[in-house]
Amino acid sequence: MFILGIETSCDETAIALIETRPGPNNGSTLAGTSTMRECRIIGSLIHSQADLHSPYGGVYPTLAKREHGKNLIPLLEKLLEKTSADRSISTKGSLAEDAWRQKIEKFSKSIAPQNPELFETLSNAKLIRHIPAIDAIAVTEGPGLEPALWVGITFAQALSELWNIPVIPVNHMEGHIIGSLINFDMDSSRWQKITDLDFPSLAFLISGGHTEFVQIDPGFKYSIIGSTRDDAVGEAFDKVARLLGLPYPGGPQISNLAAQARSMKLTSPISLPRPMINSNDLHMSFSGLKTAVLYAIRKITKDGERTMSNEEKLGLAMEFEDSVIEVLDAKLRKAIDFTQTRTIIVGGGVSANKKIRESFEKTASEYGIKILLPHSHVSGDNALMIALAGSIHPISSEKIRADGTKSL
Ligand code: KG4
Ligand code: ZN
Repeated sequence: MFILGIETSCDETAIALIETRPGPNNGSTLAGTSTMRECRIIGSLIHSQADLHSPYGGVYPTLAKREHGKNLIPLLEKLLEKTSADRSISTKGSLAEDAWRQKIEKFSKSIAPQNPELFETLSNAKLIRHIPAIDAIAVTEGPGLEPALWVGITFAQALSELWNIPVIPVNHMEGHIIGSLINFDMDSSRWQKITDLDFPSLAFLISGGHTEFVQIDPGFKYSIIGSTRDDAVGEAFDKVARLLGLPYPGGPQISNLAAQARSMKLTSPISLPRPMINSNDLHMSFSGLKTAVLYAIRKITKDGERTMSNEEKLGLAMEFEDSVIEVLDAKLRKAIDFTQTRTIIVGGGVSANKKIRESFEKTASEYGIKILLPHSHVSGDNALMIALAGSIHPISSEKIRADGTKSL
């Protein structure tokens, strides 16, 4: 089964194509108790808009929407160029000139008014007229920035109409979970196993919009058992970076400074709190920590009378990162105790953080349990995880939509 993935929930425009099949010893289970499937990655392309949003200190939704509209078709055509060159999938035929014109005429009314950039590139597209043997399109339906999400959904619907194949709506956070279940291998000729889960599994999702523990029970039943009360952990990294005069996205910037501080054996000029570290639940809070950094900067600079030295900045970045890690790790331990899980899955952009990965790995090893961390290609937003989530159990994705429980 060939699945095209589309992701436009935030500031990454992404397209991916995979083929999946049941794994050995597994006949037909899709949404049952087993995830035993195999996949091969035919292509996964990501166009980051981070540089464009950097001056705004965060993602600017209308700009993101416009950029997705401009970039989706070029990314897809690049992918189709590869598949036609290496013949990794066959073509089912081509749209006749008349049929193509009729569709474009229709899209000029249905797509152009809301998404002029998408319509413009779509009407000039060449390769999508040759219908590839793709079986379904998996698209992120949420959570994310509404204007950005709609571009991807509109695009998926247009392709579905052109190619006459179904659309599978995928929850972005589920994508972050499933994306961590593969051993990333971009060699398109190689089949790789999608890790089989034992239940209950525990996912810790740490991204720019979410910080939550998700218990996964048989049949891929998801329950959120803990989350942030306010800012997400990635959001805290981004906001603190802005306070320190660093560009968006702030996570990699802060962790860079913190690494420098450690290698120079610096100490922090001020100690920061570890919010909710001792609370007897799985909830977290990061907004107070960001405010504590603001007050620390005011104190160090004597309310702006002097600037912070480079060493003070490095020390403060390190103290912030240490505080985040201590809180996340303490909560992870509580979540393991609570769920008695044997498998932790970590997902979301913040899981790219080296110190966080090391700390979680150490904890998993102390407990003697398995930990699945995403490969760097799939730690941030990407369409590979969306295609995988769509293929692994489309039924549950549908359920997420039907129940209205989009907030996973
Ligand atoms: O999952 P993601 O790409 O987008 C959302 O769905 O939110 O996560 C983006 C977040 C940003 O807040 C970014 O600063 C953070 O992930 N991030 C990091 C690191 N790399 C990205 N945070 C801490 N350390 C990193 N190395
Ligand atoms: Zn994400």
